[in-house]
Amino acid sequence: MALQIGVPAETAAGERRVALVPDVVKRLTQQGMSVRVEKGAGTGAFITDAEFEAAGAQIVTREEAWASDLVVHVQPPSEAEIALLRSGSVYIGFLNPLDRPEVVEKLARQGVTALAMELVPRISRAQKMDALSAMAAVAGYKAVLIAANLLPKFFPLLTTAAGTVRPASVLVLGAGVAGLQAIATARRLGARVSAYDIRDAVKEEVQSLGATFLELPFEVPDAQDVSGYAKALAEEKQRQQAQLLVPHIGRSDVVISTAQVPGRRAPVLITEEAVAAMQPGTVIIDLAAPSGGNCVLTKPGETVVHNGVQIVGPLNLPAEMPVHASQMYARTLLAMIQEFATPEGFKPDFEDEIFKGACVTYNGEVVNERVRALLAA
Ligand code: NAI
Repeated sequence: MALQIGVPAETAAGERRVALVPDVVKRLTQQGMSVRVEKGAGTGAFITDAEFEAAGAQIVTREEAWASDLVVHVQPPSEAEIALLRSGSVYIGFLNPLDRPEVVEKLARQGVTALAMELVPRISRAQKMDALSAMAAVAGYKAVLIAANLLPKFFPLLTTAAGTVRPASVLVLGAGVAGLQAIATARRLGARVSAYDIRDAVKEEVQSLGATFLELPFEVPDAQDVSGYAKALAEEKQRQQAQLLVPHIGRSDVVISTAQVPGRRAPVLITEEAVAAMQPGTVIIDLAAPSGGNCVLTKPGETVVHNGVQIVGPLNLPAEMPVHASQMYARTLLAMIQEFATPEGFKPDFEDEIFKGACVTYNGEVVNERVRALLAA
């Protein structure tokens, strides 16, 4: 029998994405796989059951979707959902494995082979499977729109009969995937944008988007690790860095912060002193809120107002753009499925760097070293 791919509905609060979209379902069914979508799974992303059916999917119950050979999902499964997975089946989705190792352990106990989309390595061959980057791009875009909406000023330069309006100043901290998308979006809205990153390697990219690259009198040798991610700074260096940023933050109408070091608490770049230097009405969007925030005053999942400065700590912006976020996520899953499955079944390949990186459970065991270490601690 052909490999069955199950798409259960998302149940986490506020989640509106769905793991597969009709266009991707069509590709999979044409390749001989069978796709089973839970009734109503696409509702949040404005996709009807009829559209899934027209693409070749079968509409099934929640239990049937979870009991498929390969289950794809957006949010980590709840305990009740893990109990619906069949032993010997495969699960692919975001698992937040370094923050929630206990979920990984439960999947192992259930006898499920699980792949965490967060752990797909950032190498060229895996670009099309890089779901984190796809979602970070969505978040970077949306963060700027939220800021533009909250700011009591225009973003662009305006020359009108009623006088000239100066463009807003936007500072982007961390010019990775989310940061670069934020820069591009703020530029499209006409703001004056500057950006700062600890990795000098991004300077040209920042400049090519029409932003100024902020250089601080501050040396960080080898800021980048072999996988292209930033390394964590020593505490003293971090304090020095935050101090040097104060005047730049103080001059900004909007600060979008995105600095992260994978698996660690987000670095503090915006101190209370920096917030105090900002004008009332200005806005901080702290995309690092899920990992503690780049601003000391950020409350994850909330908006706080401090001396008139609005500090937003969003936790799941991709869920607020469910149509394109689902489409992009589904494409990354399609790439994973095409790499590691055929209509005859799923083919684990520990010789493959991508599989080895992403696979967290196999044969009833937690196989990722970092997750094992966290569980043992
Ligand atoms: P990334 O790894 O591509 O970029 C992070 C950037 O921060 C890197 O360029 C890195 O060099 C820089 N950085 C690290 N430490 C720094 C420091 N001390 N000073 C200056 N720059 C520093 O990450 P990506 O994919 O762009 O994600 C960015 C953040 O957005 C992450 O925290 C991620 O969790 C978050 N995110 C938040 C969402 C939300 O809804 N809140 C949704 C999606 C992503």
